Amino acid sequence: MSPLANKRILLGVSGGIAAYKAAELARLLRAEDVGVKVVMTRSATAFVAPLTFQALSGQPVSLELLDAHAEAAMGHIDLARWADRILIAPATADFIAKLRIGIADELLTAVCLAAEAPIVLAPAMNRVMWHNSATQNNVQCLRNRGIKILGPMEGAQACGETGLGRMMEPADICAALAAAFSGGILNGVSVLVTAGPTREAIDPVRYISNRSSGKMGYAVAEAAAEAGAEVTLVSGPVSLSAPDIKAIVKVESAREMYQAVMERVASQAIFIGAAAVADYRPVAAQTKKIKKEAGRPQLILEKTDDILAGVAQLDDGPFTVGFAAETDNLEEYAQRKLQNKALDMIAANWVGRPDGGFDHDENALTVFWPNGQRLLPMAPKRVVAKQLIALIGERFHANKR
Ligand code: C5P
Repeated sequence: MSPLANKRILLGVSGGIAAYKAAELARLLRAEDVGVKVVMTRSATAFVAPLTFQALSGQPVSLELLDAHAEAAMGHIDLARWADRILIAPATADFIAKLRIGIADELLTAVCLAAEAPIVLAPAMNRVMWHNSATQNNVQCLRNRGIKILGPMEGAQACGETGLGRMMEPADICAALAAAFSGGILNGVSVLVTAGPTREAIDPVRYISNRSSGKMGYAVAEAAAEAGAEVTLVSGPVSLSAPDIKAIVKVESAREMYQAVMERVASQAIFIGAAAVADYRPVAAQTKKIKKEAGRPQLILEKTDDILAGVAQLDDGPFTVGFAAETDNLEEYAQRKLQNKALDMIAANWVGRPDGGFDHDENALTVFWPNGQRLLPMAPKRVVAKQLIALIGERFHANKR
């Protein structure tokens, strides 16, 4: 039985051209035995007739807030109480802005304000409107309040432009809702995460390493566990307390991390390489402490194995996500890594900004996948990690379909 069966979803339709796709969404939800009630904004009715939704949902469509008949039948408070989830698809820039500040000027905004049920938005708008910092700030604020944002997607837009702003396809919205009802978006999914730096021994007391604190990788592991995943974390040396996950494997060098990952990866559905693995190691670590001597001592280095690329090349390997820390040309280098390492996704981190990306509690990421990208703006690493996991979950489920 579908995890959506017998659930009650209030489908809110706001006024954008993608409203015609909401009709298909209502049909797909009904096919999964969902109880659907549709509430349309005034402007939505300019795109699709309420009768269309009435026929597809098998229920009268609610339109007016200040209507004595409608309020007597099922008013905004009753509608809000009735729903297990409120899904707004499409959610226009205007609707998102109203939701952010709690305006309740018509039925759908009033229902959202009165709702205790989780709210899910599928934004759809012109790409410039989506990228406008007003919209981005509003979306971020809603995310921080626990409202789930599905999409938008990249592609051709009704306005004739191409870019980020298309509403997520109705079938993908249904899949994301189903995942949310069956627990978190990664419920029961096995996820292997690497985190922290590695240490490459020069001699028993010295090593080569880097400035990774492990905070981002640990936050990602925790967010995956919160989304229902069974998480194994392979961690380099960090001074962080152990996250609440299934298993943690402590390693020191890149070689140990490679082995720990390869021993476990066959049973994993998703691999997230958040570790800052050393690219080079001394060819031979000395067994005794090297004594100071005059002149310029030479250190001969060799490349370490690329764990991420190794995982991505496996036959039947997991959905593979990498990180890219760049000081410049963020998009170009990240896209190149996505292709060269044959990844499913890459999260790029601009470490060239004045406050750097290392050892801070905040981070911003731009995530790229074939044919898509999304900015996760500056926020505490825990918040960014949750958003990244939600995005990984979306893409992982979409890839399986
Ligand atoms: O090529 P670059 O080191 O910039 O790629 C960074 C990504 O590759 C990160 O996800 C990191 O965890 C991974 N990586 C790895 N093994 C290496 C080097 C990098 O898994 N030896």
